[in-house]
Order: sequence, then structure tokens, then C-alpha cells
Amino acid sequence: MTTFAPQSDYADWIHSLYLQVIGWDGLILLIVTVAMFLALLRYSTRSERVPAALPIHRDHTWLEVTWTVGPAIVLVAIAIPTVRTTFRSQPAVTPEDALVVEVTAHQWWWEVVYPELKIITANEIHLPAGRPVRFELHSADVIHSFWVPALGGKRDIIPGHVNAITVTPRTPGVYHGQCAEFCGLSHANMRLRVFVEAPERFAAWANQQVQPAAVPGRPAAVTTPGEAGARLFATSLCVTCHTIRGVASQRAGPDLTHFASRTTLAGGTLDNTPANLAAWLRDPDAMKPGAQMPSLGLTDTEVAQLVAYLGSLQ
Ligand code: CUA
Repeated sequence: MTTFAPQSDYADWIHSLYLQVIGWDGLILLIVTVAMFLALLRYSTRSERVPAALPIHRDHTWLEVTWTVGPAIVLVAIAIPTVRTTFRSQPAVTPEDALVVEVTAHQWWWEVVYPELKIITANEIHLPAGRPVRFELHSADVIHSFWVPALGGKRDIIPGHVNAITVTPRTPGVYHGQCAEFCGLSHANMRLRVFVEAPERFAAWANQQVQPAAVPGRPAAVTTPGEAGARLFATSLCVTCHTIRGVASQRAGPDLTHFASRTTLAGGTLDNTPANLAAWLRDPDAMKPGAQMPSLGLTDTEVAQLVAYLGSLQ
């Protein structure tokens, strides 16, 4: 995660502002350092002829004017682009072709909804490059902060209030994000990934996400682990918190309809591998302290069945 490699218009503005401020700071540092060394040399007690220092209470009009007007000019030079960027980054009007993505922060994961595409996913946001996107930020519980450094500045997520941030991602790539406001025990485990893709790739992803959930195959008279896992899921506590379209429809936890199409699990902290999923199912709290998902006391066989089932949900 770095703010030094901006990949959106918004991130460019912040980056350019940063460089301007650093430029002024650098200039001041240079002036102060040069003045300090000149004074050190001129008034060194090692020197043979030490000039008498100026009495500090003597009036020195041009010097006083200089040290008042000089910093004032620098402050104005910083204020103008800052105010301009502030207004630019809070547009009153959202671009008409903007893709709306509703992001709901939960302790400790991100729910991602594309209302116009009817897609619900978690912790991973896919976006088409070059199209403005308007993130509408909701909180399900406490204050969080949405931050994907490559795409732009942080924006706080306040319960009972919808904040928004509009950016146009430019370069395809995977950009990491992180909740940037302390929100409890697993604040540090509240990560997200943004996949900026060429428009065709994004369309393919979107098309795949709206498909119904995969149903495990049913070879005659053989019960596959995936099939057993599907039955276990549908009859266990899983359905009281999660959605798998056609099976369960609760929103307390992430929508798992296309769970296997995601690269991560557990608030974006673990690679989505069978081993990590099994460890997560056995003891969520060990992987993400304070996790809202309880340990279900599953046997090894049950864990393997659920892993097989969830792993089939492409
Ligand atoms: Cu959510 Cu920190």
C-alpha cells in the first residue's frame, strides 16, 4: 500500500498536492539550513575576528516584513491548491456514467454491493478501468475508514450517515486497502482488495457473479463431500448469518454465493486456499481475534465437506 504510485484521478490530485507542499517545505529547509551554517561560520568563536552580534531588540523593519510576508506567501501558495483539491474531491454532482458501489463496513470485513448490477460480494471490489466509480460508504456498526491508497484519500465511514467518494481508476491492477480508523480488536485484519480491470474483463466478472450458486453434482448413488457439505451448510448455523442464493439469505456475514471466485477470506487477510478455509472454519477467532463468526465445533469430516462445498462456489 503506497500513496506514491497514484492510479486514479483522485490519487493524482492528492499526490500533486503532496509534492507541492514537500517542494515548499524543501525550500524552507534549504533556506534555514544555509542561514544556520552561514551564522555558524560567521560567528564561530574559533575565528580570529568575531563580529559583534546584533542586539536582538534593535528594530529591523525589512527583516520583520520579510519574515512575515515570506511565510504568508508560502501559506497562500499551499492554501490555494489545497482548497481547490478539497472541492474537486467532493464533487457536488456525480458523473452520470459513474458505477455506484455500496460498501458497508462491518466489524471486521467489507460488504460490497453493486445495486445496478445486482451483485453482492465481500472484501474484494472489481472495477472497470477508466469509468468513474462512486463508493457509497455505510457502516453496520462503528466508525471505520475506507482507504485504498493507490486510488485516493481516506474517507471515514460513520454509522447512520452515508459518505461517498468518487474516483476514476486508471490502470488495471490489484490495489490493496485497509480500514484506517480503529474499530475494535481486529481493526488491523480489516483489509480489502480492489481489482481494476479492462472493461471486457470486468464485464465477464460481473456476468459470472450474477449466475446462481453452483449446485454440487450428483453422481448416481454417490454422495460427494461437496454434496454433503451443501447439506450440512443448509442445515447448520451457517444459514443464520450468510447468504448463498437459493440456500440461505442472511446478511450478517459475507455473501458466499460465489465464495470460490474470491482470492481471499477472513476480512481479506488470508489467501482463499482449502487449508486456510479449513483453519478458519475450525476456529475463526484464532485467525481473526474477536471475529463475529463463532466456532461451530465441526468435526474434521464436516470441515472437509464444507471446504469442498464452498470451494465449488465459483
Ligand atoms: Cu474497521 Cu478499523
